[in-house]
Amino acid sequence: MAMEEKIDQLKAQAAEAIQNAATNLSELDDIRVKFLGKKGEFTSILRGMGAVAKEDRPKIGKIVNEAKAQIEALIAEKNEALKARALEERLAKERIDVTLPGRRQPLGHLHPLTLTLERIKDIFFRMGFSVEEGPEIEQDYFNFEALNLPKDHPARDMQDSFYITDEILMRSQTSPVQARTMQKNKANAPIRMIAPGRVYRRDEYDATHSPMFTQVEGLVIDEGISLADLKGTLELFLHQIFGEDVGVRFRPSFFPFTEPSAEVDISCSNCHGKGCNVCKGTGWLEILGAGMVHPHVLEMSGYDPKKVSGFAFGMGVERIAMLSYGVNDLRLFYDNDKRFLSQF
Ligand code: DAH
Repeated sequence: MAMEEKIDQLKAQAAEAIQNAATNLSELDDIRVKFLGKKGEFTSILRGMGAVAKEDRPKIGKIVNEAKAQIEALIAEKNEALKARALEERLAKERIDVTLPGRRQPLGHLHPLTLTLERIKDIFFRMGFSVEEGPEIEQDYFNFEALNLPKDHPARDMQDSFYITDEILMRSQTSPVQARTMQKNKANAPIRMIAPGRVYRRDEYDATHSPMFTQVEGLVIDEGISLADLKGTLELFLHQIFGEDVGVRFRPSFFPFTEPSAEVDISCSNCHGKGCNVCKGTGWLEILGAGMVHPHVLEMSGYDPKKVSGFAFGMGVERIAMLSYGVNDLRLFYDNDKRFLSQF
């Protein structure tokens, strides 16, 4: 019968094409479409069934379906074979050398200023201090006025500052956090805090100055706080950060927000007190400012100086980092030179 022959012929053609013509997966797919697709050869045979005698139709239909199934099986088989061959080719081409050393991902680490700040914080944490924060863009009121520095006070000149408006500036010290913390606390509640952060002054950018640097402020307020507490706390701190054998001395000084005020020095780590160019021949290095909180400062922020007293201090983190690591140029901390930073 002509129909059966045609089917056989088509089957043979498809098998041959699958066997020989298909050298990759897309060619194989073209063959599948050509024979089995919606507009393919076998579909058109089924469409032509109208011309087949009624009683022969089931038989022809069966033969067509069987042929289609056989071709599908051949395609599946070829598909597997082509995939396996592609994988083999890839494995051969992309051979890797497992003996090659891996590429190291260099791990970052903390900046020396951050490390120094962490050490400072750690020492004060162990003494029961908490950390307070204040804004870097600050009100004139907190930066100066609430610290006993009224508008025309000459001591404002000590800190040439960046003003944004008449009433707002880049804070020139972390001391405003003192007033903020006092005002945030209920009046007369005890305070034991440090306030680390950036401060801004109209300074040169040279080996010892920068218009932006880092300070740590400290404030303790409670009943019966005395100068002995101030001395004891700062001596303990300085011995922990610079070593037990470092010398510490307190020099009378002036700050508007403390009375009495002191500047605190440590013995020169370079010459151990003999006098050298690091300490300019004095044997001592100035390290922080401190004092007993001025009664008026307590009062302005809601504390009763008859009931409580306190001490405060402020230090520069860059200076402490320079001394503890032996760094002689402040700018190295900000230049982001990896040759410098990778040493810490
Ligand atoms: N704020 C001062 C400065 O930047 C440092 C300072 C001195 C802070 C004495 C204090 C203090 O809390 O009591 O120069």
